[in-house]
Amino acid sequence: MPAREPTSSDLTRRTFLRTGALTVGAVAASGIGVATAAPGGGKGGGGDKGGKGGGAMTNPLYLPPTLDPGAGLVTLTAAPGLVDLGPYNAASAWVYNGGMPGPTLEVSTGDTVQLRFQNDLPEGSITHWHGMVVDHDNDGHPNQEVEAGSHYDYAFPIVQRATMNWYHPHPHERTGKQVALGLAGAFIIRDAQEAALGLPAGVRELPLVIRDGDVDREGTAVIYKPKSSGYEGKKAFVNGTLEPYVEVDNALYRLRVLNGANGRIFRFAFADGRGMTLIGNDGGFLPAPETVTEIELSNGERLDLLVDLRDLDKNDTAMLVDRNSGWDLLEFRVVRSVNDTTLIPTSLPAPPAPLSDPVRTRTFSFDGMGKINGLEYAMERIDFEVPYGQTERWVLTTGGNAPHPVHIHGTYFQVVSRTGGRGQVFPWERGWKDTVLLQDGETVEILIRFDHGHKDLYLMHCHKLEHEDRGMMSNFLVV
Ligand code: C2O
Ligand code: CU
Ligand code: CU
Repeated sequence: MPAREPTSSDLTRRTFLRTGALTVGAVAASGIGVATAAPGGGKGGGGDKGGKGGGAMTNPLYLPPTLDPGAGLVTLTAAPGLVDLGPYNAASAWVYNGGMPGPTLEVSTGDTVQLRFQNDLPEGSITHWHGMVVDHDNDGHPNQEVEAGSHYDYAFPIVQRATMNWYHPHPHERTGKQVALGLAGAFIIRDAQEAALGLPAGVRELPLVIRDGDVDREGTAVIYKPKSSGYEGKKAFVNGTLEPYVEVDNALYRLRVLNGANGRIFRFAFADGRGMTLIGNDGGFLPAPETVTEIELSNGERLDLLVDLRDLDKNDTAMLVDRNSGWDLLEFRVVRSVNDTTLIPTSLPAPPAPLSDPVRTRTFSFDGMGKINGLEYAMERIDFEVPYGQTERWVLTTGGNAPHPVHIHGTYFQVVSRTGGRGQVFPWERGWKDTVLLQDGETVEILIRFDHGHKDLYLMHCHKLEHEDRGMMSNFLVV
């Protein structure tokens, strides 16, 4: 690929740095320092303020480019690269196609997607499409890990309705590290029912990959400091940007939110207490919209939210915060006054029919920091078999060391009840889910059925990635 040499006159500094990251691998390989390519000027290195504080945010929110693997082969190359975190404009990270997060993939129901994962990391990896209902060969199971320098090709039909899924590495025992170093991206599915709702779109629909992380003292590297109890970083990264703001109209916005953190649970709210209208979660639209002021979201879960900023005037701001850590996450800065007449829907496309009448019950206990039903994961062991097309009731419970966000590959499920602990099913847990949070003392009952055409090997695991890497994961076979 011929490297185009951008100049400061045709690209903003930030765009330059993001674009520059794409060619870092080649530049580094030729032994040329990357920093010399950066244009002069711009602001200084920035302080070490973390995500905390009540002050204005200082860095424009990064929005990854969009790619459509339904229109032809898309290659996702995972490699070391340099990213612009805002205050630190050339921090090393591990990135898909040069960005943190990687490109937003966007497809439509009925498409057949073609994706190549090219592994240019210094170690083995494999990419999993979290939330995509696919066969085993396309699922990015750890037994499909490819070594450094190799690739893995995927091709699968999109058989599910509109939602926001995501992609991330899934290699045996190194998922936590690879995600924390920067490898993840959003994967949006569109459909006709969604289009008919006339929801905010274009610049008024924001995919937000929200996680925590750490940067070294000099601001030159995204780093990972694992703990078996679960990694929690000192800073909030929203789309890879520290202390981000986004310039908006006083209009209705659609936020597509992913908790992309390894182990941190967020409790999202707006600092001014404004309502957020929940319209969807992991599995697409909810049965009905519901407005709430706080949402607890665990690792791997998604939200589809409408936030109304029409009460604000030019120069007003609204701050998305995390009530668990006390962090400010993202400042919405009104820069234009408009007359937006978009309606908030009062009803949503009906979800697939609810499951009922389970024919058997299985109980899974998430124990310690690395076991399910007393067993640590073994790649070659199949822990249970599930008959294809059979509705089952699975009881998920924990012996402690929560949170355990339980994630299941290969289908969606419904959350029926939660007893103990928080003792309720929350509005964002209605409809169809692929991940559900277990806190200490909680037992969650789900209904599940594998009926998407595949009798295959899948995974269930804790999505606190350090627990997953320590073995809180099971192989099961749909038969
Ligand atoms: Cu998002 Cu098996 O993982
Ligand atoms: Cu998954
Ligand atoms: Cu866990």
